Amino acid sequence: MPDTQRPVIGVFDSGLGGLSVLGALAEICPAADLIYAADTAYVPYGNKSSEQIRVRVLAMGQALIKEGCTALVVACNTATAEAIEALRGEHPSIPIVGVEPGIKPAALNTETGKIAVLATAATAKSQRLADLIGRHAPHKTVHVIPCHGWATEVEALNLDAPSIVQDINSQLLPLIEQGVDQVVLGCTHYDFLAPTLNQIIGGRAQLVGVADAVARQACKVAGTENLTGTGHISLMSTMNPVYLPHALSALGLAALLRKTTAPPQTISAN
Ligand code: DGL
Repeated sequence: MPDTQRPVIGVFDSGLGGLSVLGALAEICPAADLIYAADTAYVPYGNKSSEQIRVRVLAMGQALIKEGCTALVVACNTATAEAIEALRGEHPSIPIVGVEPGIKPAALNTETGKIAVLATAATAKSQRLADLIGRHAPHKTVHVIPCHGWATEVEALNLDAPSIVQDINSQLLPLIEQGVDQVVLGCTHYDFLAPTLNQIIGGRAQLVGVADAVARQACKVAGTENLTGTGHISLMSTMNPVYLPHALSALGLAALLRKTTAPPQTISAN
């Protein structure tokens, strides 16, 4: 277990998506100790009910605090939309940072006033996303696309799965042809689809991710900004933790493995 004298940031997602935030954190805040927990026993969250997601988020948060985390990052748009307030309510003294689709930067950067948001079904229909669009892009045209099955393909490391390519061609491309110039990655898993998306979009629109911004905010609230030394990373999951090192390598994050000091562990979160 990490030294509890130092701040420890716990980062969690349903599966691999939050690794995009972990990678940004390790870069922006290299001295911070990090625990990554994937809720692989319950992935994906995006097709589950609000109540099911809330139960999982509370269980994962509690389990990470038990592991010694002093701050949490809900590295999942779906979990943030459905349950971050409940998690904050249960742990008022723990700083908790969530992930929300980058509607604000997209609205600031669009030249055409047309934005597409790629999200899980749960995020796509959430009130939180509707509020975010209402707040930051009230006078823009915002198309929200529920991307069924994409997170599951990323979990299987099928980053150019035929079903994803087909959805991009049939749903996103027509919008880009109509002038959409900002494509918001509204699910942390989709950061790993950037090469596939860019290949099809071909420079006609900009992808908008928020991993760096979330990492900066997490470093700040966790009090790790002025730490010195090299932080270490612990990898955990609710099922099949041995998969994580393989996944990190396949997702271009093999360098993070050098910061791990122990084999991946199972985290009990019930
Ligand atoms: N990575 C998650 C998100 O940002 C959820 C993917 C899923 O489990 O459906 O929404």
